[in-house]
Amino acid sequence: MIAVSRVQTLREQIKQWRRDGLKIGFVPTMGNLHQGHLGLVDIAKQQADRVVVSIFVNPLQFGEGEDFARYPRTLDQDQIKLQSQRCDLLFCPSVEELYPSGAISTRVQADPELAALWEGAARPGHFDGVCTVVAKLFNLVQPDLAIFGQKDFQQWTIIKRMVVELNWPVELVKAPIARDQDGLALSSRNQYLSVDQRQIAPKLYVVLQDAAMACFSGNADLSSLCQTGVNQLLSLGFDQVDYFSIVDPTSLKPLTQLQDSMTLIAVARLGGIRLLDNIEINLKS
Ligand code: PAF
Repeated sequence: MIAVSRVQTLREQIKQWRRDGLKIGFVPTMGNLHQGHLGLVDIAKQQADRVVVSIFVNPLQFGEGEDFARYPRTLDQDQIKLQSQRCDLLFCPSVEELYPSGAISTRVQADPELAALWEGAARPGHFDGVCTVVAKLFNLVQPDLAIFGQKDFQQWTIIKRMVVELNWPVELVKAPIARDQDGLALSSRNQYLSVDQRQIAPKLYVVLQDAAMACFSGNADLSSLCQTGVNQLLSLGFDQVDYFSIVDPTSLKPLTQLQDSMTLIAVARLGGIRLLDNIEINLKS
């Protein structure tokens, strides 16, 4: 595996691979890699000739008071994991390398309607920061395909919209959520959980599954179904539920009636830690 921190070096390698007609798969990350990320690398490996992983904790997508400064940075361990996953190139630029003039003034605006909802409502400007860095990374890596995890469902939806609307010649691949054995969706932030919180955390997925089952069995009262989900989570020990909703997968707007394709999304808090999870519900399949 080649590890590259310079834009110029990356460009030269990409140019060479393009000249050789190789298909490039790309996995953008913020590092602190876990099994979920490595699964994305596996998918890229299966579908491309060369796999590029980026590790960059992107300041643009963190708001004031968020955890940018203390976001776990574990480059050495990440590098070992990527090497054993047979990643071909790790791109790990510094902030100065990617944003040489300090604050970047040109931004890619995420679809404002999608970005105003859910995570975007809690984190204003977050998705503009994500779209801007993903756009930069796509321009640098020029991938044929890029893999994103379904766990960040809103991010997936927004990036898909950006790629379609800006005619990006990149195929997006959505990877299923990687979970611990007890069902907890893998996340770099899980390591902040105390022993007690870690015991409560997997119940989020249990409650989501209950609600999904209710949809499958034809329970059409979606708002009371979601309210039941919130009440269950609070009684199971979660401190707060930011949202628990059944949405249209394209518009992300809450649904009041069952439809063929829906996504159940939720964020519940344990202390200061926000746990995100979702389930796709396809009534036709
Ligand atoms: O999902 C993430 O880790 C980040 O939002 C991404 C896509 C790497 C952009 O910084």
